[in-house]
Amino acid sequence: MAARYLWSMTLTTTKSIADLETEARSQTLRRALGPFNLTALGIGSVIGTGIFVLTGTAASQNAGPALVLSMIFAAVACALAGLCYAELASMIPVAGSAYTYAYASSGEFAAWIIGWDLMLEYALSVGTVAVGWSGYFVSFLRDLGLTLPHALTMAPGGACGGAFNLPAAAVVLVVTALLVVGIKQSANTNTVLVVIKTVVLIMFVALGAAYVRRENLVPFIPPNTGEFGHFGWSGVFRGAAVMFFAYIGFDAVSTAAQEARNPQRDMPIGILASLAICTVLYIAVAVVLIGIVPYQRLNVADPIAVGIDATGLTWFSPLVKISAIFGLFSTMIVQLLGQTRIFYSMSRDGLLPPLFGRVHPRFQTPYLSTLLTGLVVAGVAGFVPLATLSQLVSIGSLFAFVLVCVGVVVLRRTAPDVPRPFRAPGVPWVPVLGALACIVQMVSLPLSTWERLIIWMMLGLVVYFLYGRRRSRYGAAAR
Ligand code: ALA
Repeated sequence: MAARYLWSMTLTTTKSIADLETEARSQTLRRALGPFNLTALGIGSVIGTGIFVLTGTAASQNAGPALVLSMIFAAVACALAGLCYAELASMIPVAGSAYTYAYASSGEFAAWIIGWDLMLEYALSVGTVAVGWSGYFVSFLRDLGLTLPHALTMAPGGACGGAFNLPAAAVVLVVTALLVVGIKQSANTNTVLVVIKTVVLIMFVALGAAYVRRENLVPFIPPNTGEFGHFGWSGVFRGAAVMFFAYIGFDAVSTAAQEARNPQRDMPIGILASLAICTVLYIAVAVVLIGIVPYQRLNVADPIAVGIDATGLTWFSPLVKISAIFGLFSTMIVQLLGQTRIFYSMSRDGLLPPLFGRVHPRFQTPYLSTLLTGLVVAGVAGFVPLATLSQLVSIGSLFAFVLVCVGVVVLRRTAPDVPRPFRAPGVPWVPVLGALACIVQMVSLPLSTWERLIIWMMLGLVVYFLYGRRRSRYGAAAR
């Protein structure tokens, strides 16, 4: 009985591909982005707090030098899921990312679940990156002789907690204002910022390589401390799940499908190119960083700067900090952009109130949802510590990736004739392996992260049954 009820809520309310195409044609967002912008959007979103901050956290707390293995594992999972994302993004070029794909492949209920879950990936990751940004910003100010009161630079909690992370909250508000003004301006700003942070990371690898010491890289997998996830193989997998955060963002390209000039061709290019470039860069940065500084010393807010200091190339340190300050800014832009576009789609489907879909007459941006999201995220960034945030983003995104992988297999069966300008190779093996790799990382995360995910998803069910299910455009027609 319960199973039949769930079934009736899912597959009977599937959006048809024709509906999605009509939606794409009737879109009101401006089509301004080409393949270069989209790849830059991907890189802009991917390179952020993950590589600039969590590399140090995961090396010192979970994996040691074997962080390199963690990164490779996370990258493989992302590549497999990325191929699935690319197929769906080229097939269904409508704003909304995995949410839209789930609507087409598995129906309204699954779409709601994933849409709600994606808030962890997008909105919450803006907060997470803001906290990483704050670490570099505070450190840079300190170099200039300006020390902010500790209470205003850290969220409450932990041994060295403060009262409110003011820089993190403030930067979210600045990003929000930029996005209200418009997509093309934001994409151009983003391209410049992407170039800056990529160049600085390449310089870090090039300059740092000469200072790598073999003894810092052994033992490559430090023995487990007796606690799951603290070194040893469980630490490698927990490290992968933590570092997974660093790869999140290439899928944000898919959320801009309605703003792409030629989505069928350019979506897969944007997704796969940004993922490939970031993977190579990350592995190189991790090897050099851990090779320069013993991993035990990397549990700091600005590990890349600590790496530079260890080389004695002090002139480079301010450059790294400035590039992180600007570079993490671009990550926040793309993630917040992605979130508002998902809200836009959900609102058009009736699952969220109309205000989330209202487009500004002059700026042509969903300004109300941008403002609302920005305000809430600013509060979260101010009050929640980095580790809690980043692990919640990781688990939420991994869950979304699992659903995307499943979606590819389902759509190949339910909609075999729809043109797929990009086809993921090796179906069903690629999606199945992608889903498995994501599940392995999910189970490597701490229990407390699982509890938060479950509470969040429960809350989502309540909202769905009280609001979305009753107002849904497609659901009402099907019932
Ligand atoms: N991948 C993005 C980052 O590392 C979210 O900040």
